[in-house]
Amino acid sequence: MCGIIGYIGDQASAPIIIKGLKRLEYRGYDSAGIAVLKDGGLQLIRREGKLSNLEAALNLKEMTATLGIGHTRWATHGAPSEVNAHPHLDCTQKIAVVHNGIIENFHQLRHELSGRGHDLRSQTDTEVIAHLIEEAFTGDLYQAVKDALTHIEGSFALAVISSDSPDMLVGARKDSPLIIGVSPKAFFVASDIPAILDYTREIVLLENGEIARLSPQGYLIEQLDGTPVSRKSMTIDWDISAAEKGGFEDFMLKEIHEQPAAVRETLRGRIDENGRVGRVGLDDLGLDDDELRSLKKITIVACGTSLHAGMLAKQVIERWARLPVEVDCSSEFRYRDPILDEGTLVVAITQSGETADTLAGVRIAAELGAKVLAVTNVVGSTITRESDGVLYTFAGPEIGVAATKTLMAQMTALNLFGLLLAQARGRSNHEFAATVAELQRIPEKIASILENTAVLEDWAKTYHQVTDLLFLGRGFSYPMAMEGALKLKEISYIHAEGYPAGEMKHGPIALINPGLPIVVLAPKDSVYEKIVSNIHEAKARGATILAIATVGDKDILSQVEGVFYIPETLETLTPLLSVVPMQLLAYYIAKLRDCNVDQPRNLAKSVTVE
Ligand code: F6R
Repeated sequence: MCGIIGYIGDQASAPIIIKGLKRLEYRGYDSAGIAVLKDGGLQLIRREGKLSNLEAALNLKEMTATLGIGHTRWATHGAPSEVNAHPHLDCTQKIAVVHNGIIENFHQLRHELSGRGHDLRSQTDTEVIAHLIEEAFTGDLYQAVKDALTHIEGSFALAVISSDSPDMLVGARKDSPLIIGVSPKAFFVASDIPAILDYTREIVLLENGEIARLSPQGYLIEQLDGTPVSRKSMTIDWDISAAEKGGFEDFMLKEIHEQPAAVRETLRGRIDENGRVGRVGLDDLGLDDDELRSLKKITIVACGTSLHAGMLAKQVIERWARLPVEVDCSSEFRYRDPILDEGTLVVAITQSGETADTLAGVRIAAELGAKVLAVTNVVGSTITRESDGVLYTFAGPEIGVAATKTLMAQMTALNLFGLLLAQARGRSNHEFAATVAELQRIPEKIASILENTAVLEDWAKTYHQVTDLLFLGRGFSYPMAMEGALKLKEISYIHAEGYPAGEMKHGPIALINPGLPIVVLAPKDSVYEKIVSNIHEAKARGATILAIATVGDKDILSQVEGVFYIPETLETLTPLLSVVPMQLLAYYIAKLRDCNVDQPRNLAKSVTVE
């Protein structure tokens, strides 16, 4: 996720672009850049780090051009650095491009472009677009962008300018958002509405596969195949803060709703044409098939929500690859003198890539000769520099302190890793193809859960004043029971525990007094009968059972006080669905208790101290 903006009109573009980028900083903040016209050419200024670094480098008084584009980056390909910051230029330095999205076939395009003599200066996927436009350019920038896009696979929102076309700004999109802003004497393209709300409230939404040509006088929209599009503008009446949250009340709720995209982006380019996990999108993995084959053991280290992704990964990897997996919280692992050697792969899961305890675990692993694979959402974070390989998740920046979409992306990536490991170890079977196919259906299944939350809102109204709540699960649902409890405690401050349901009778069942609410994860899986027995045990002691069950399971209705149905899916993938209602339940309860869900007390987004 990055933020892009472009301006064409009658005012100096640079201050407008910088102000717009500030409003988009929530989409990425590892580097930023701007390109404007100057003396018949382009002026390009880029800086690593926060937008303030770019701002400090600009002399806005001298930047009077009325056409320009800008970008704030959240790295996906190529570490955060000045050379990888956008805009990117072609060889002639006349064409500038800003991009949000992922070009899936960029390796191939890069290779071909280099072969034809192009000088590619960055490690980004975006730069190939500038060079493709350069090749296609015969005097008409708009047509050249259209032609260039026929070579591109993947997702993009683009803004393009050229010093040869001083009266033109081109925008295009596929699977990444782009809007057009309309005012009497100026037109804008931007990733999101807040970027331009200070200048206009008239917005036109660009749809997938559309391209727009803007001038100081007006704009026209076409489909990429040339079919004309006529669309009326709409008037936005949100204030800036609501707009930054996409109209949601809080970042956490927005990020819960971004989970279908987090799965899609994390899968993008990683499934080959035969429906297997392919290596193309896993080029930072740092482990070849021989290395994956020779592993004797995997040790997973992580904290908090990432640890729950690790607990799930243990089950997935053991099931698919039949390789023993240990899971440890990083803060324990680092002090327990772990047994590791060259046959061990340490998988360190951390969305921020900066968690001190997890980094300490990585350093111990390296000292003991184990290879380290980092699973992280932040390109260029400390863990990526200290690990042998990286499995990136592509959730985009997460602003809410409570992890939601980053967990979803971790679970997606770790499922892919389990399958890749199994493939390398010669264990492929027909279930793998079914799993890969089902992974691709998960986004729409999550979306259907998000459309249907009335039951959860009712539960929140009924139970938001309780002092204790239990979450129970078994098998693949056990890590999610832990996660449900963690979400609730951290944002609502209600005491909650996640427990493996079969363990209740070994002690915790003594806690049950009449009316204690228990959320039970009871999907139709291989331990369904077992969890139903656990429901009976808890009910017999007076607990109130709220079940998360598989759609169509009518039998459970008579056993519990309430049911929230999730769509049917494969057992290994159920957590990607069952976690969503628990995130929402925690959210609704916290809101009713007037808690600040985005910044819960005593917590920080990344824990960089021990
Ligand atoms: C919970 C949460 C924390 C983090 C934990 C690890 O919602 O956000 O428990 O999961 O601090 O953080 P990362 O993944 O950045 O290492």
